[in-house]
Amino acid sequence: MGGYTVPGEGHASTFRHVPKYRYPAQFEGGEKELLARIEELLLRGGYVLGEEVAEFEQRLAGYLGAAHTVGVNSGTDALILTLDALGVGPGDEVVTVANSFHATAQAIARRGATPVYVDCRDDDFLMDLDRLPEAFTERTRAVILVHMFGKAADVPRAARLCRDAGVTLVEDCAQAIGARSHGVRVGTASAAGCWSFAPSKNLAAAGDAGAVSVRDDELAERLRLLRHFGQPHQNDHRLLGYNSRLDTLQALVLLHKLDRLDTWNARRAALAATYRERLAPLPLRFQQPGEEGEHVYHLFQVRTETEAARDGLLDHLTASGVDAVVRYPVPLPHQPALDGPAARRHDFPVAEDLSRQTLCLPIRPDLDAAELAHVCDTVGGYFTTGAP
Ligand SMILES: Cc1ncc(COP(=O)(O)O)c(C=O)c1O
Repeated sequence: MGGYTVPGEGHASTFRHVPKYRYPAQFEGGEKELLARIEELLLRGGYVLGEEVAEFEQRLAGYLGAAHTVGVNSGTDALILTLDALGVGPGDEVVTVANSFHATAQAIARRGATPVYVDCRDDDFLMDLDRLPEAFTERTRAVILVHMFGKAADVPRAARLCRDAGVTLVEDCAQAIGARSHGVRVGTASAAGCWSFAPSKNLAAAGDAGAVSVRDDELAERLRLLRHFGQPHQNDHRLLGYNSRLDTLQALVLLHKLDRLDTWNARRAALAATYRERLAPLPLRFQQPGEEGEHVYHLFQVRTETEAARDGLLDHLTASGVDAVVRYPVPLPHQPALDGPAARRHDFPVAEDLSRQTLCLPIRPDLDAAELAHVCDTVGGYFTTGAP
């Protein structure tokens, strides 16, 4: 391969550190109004299930086009409470993808059910829906489809396969707020969409926060009970519930940011397009983005040809001050806490390759042109100076 230069630049970057995240930048100087609302809340009380929680739930439902959303304490709890509300428990199997954040599978195991894994596709790194039917048995109760890295999976196709098998479809939308599948926002065309608003997410709280979006009134009611000790009223416990409410304070933060989410997602998509263009001459592959609007680039994945090249690139980026990270280095079926006969029922060659050959470059709405150029220069420099 020939020499690599950043098109139209040729500058010497002065950047020493390009962080993965810069959380305070999300306030863009507009924090005064938010701080006033926080102060007002602190002095008024209403910290638990205050009116701002319902306000955020309504605004989020409007943004998504969902019938209901129920605010909970994290994305992990969104998954656990959803499986609980659907009646998933011991003896049941729940199918998911072999390459996801561990919470997807831990939620299944936490309910006493068995996670069963399907391999990923080689092009978009998402669950290989051609292989989904092989994973169904008479014990399968649900599928958790994950929109990995911000790319929407094919929800209508997954919904058809689940319907034919009599299985409930749940979406893990933690990384993909705003993404659309066939023109429809993820998390709205299945039984439930599970959301995380942890600080790294495209829509981020100032701590842990999550939600579930649902179509069915009864399921929404059950989730509302479950998140609050199973009680419709104090001292009236109808279900064995949880303490998993969305904090009023976090609802305020989320309300403050929701209007800017689409602008931030558009900025992420523009950054991703620039990465693709500038890194195109290099021996790298990228997650297939699909149609416009299908990808909201929570993470930007690059894939090398070999594990040695990935590890070398990671070291080179780290030494150059670029916070690259491997998501995820161990496929879920190989995690000790999730191992077992069902984890070994199928093989996962693509998930294994992805775990060895991919890394994420920094992507956040506030990443500026100089930071982007430094990342591209550093990646290019690695391949021009003798990558394995
Ligand atoms: C795919 C996926 N599922 C679930 C979660 C869990 O969300 P939380 O960290 O809010 O519990 C995350 C987030 O970290 C995630 O990326």
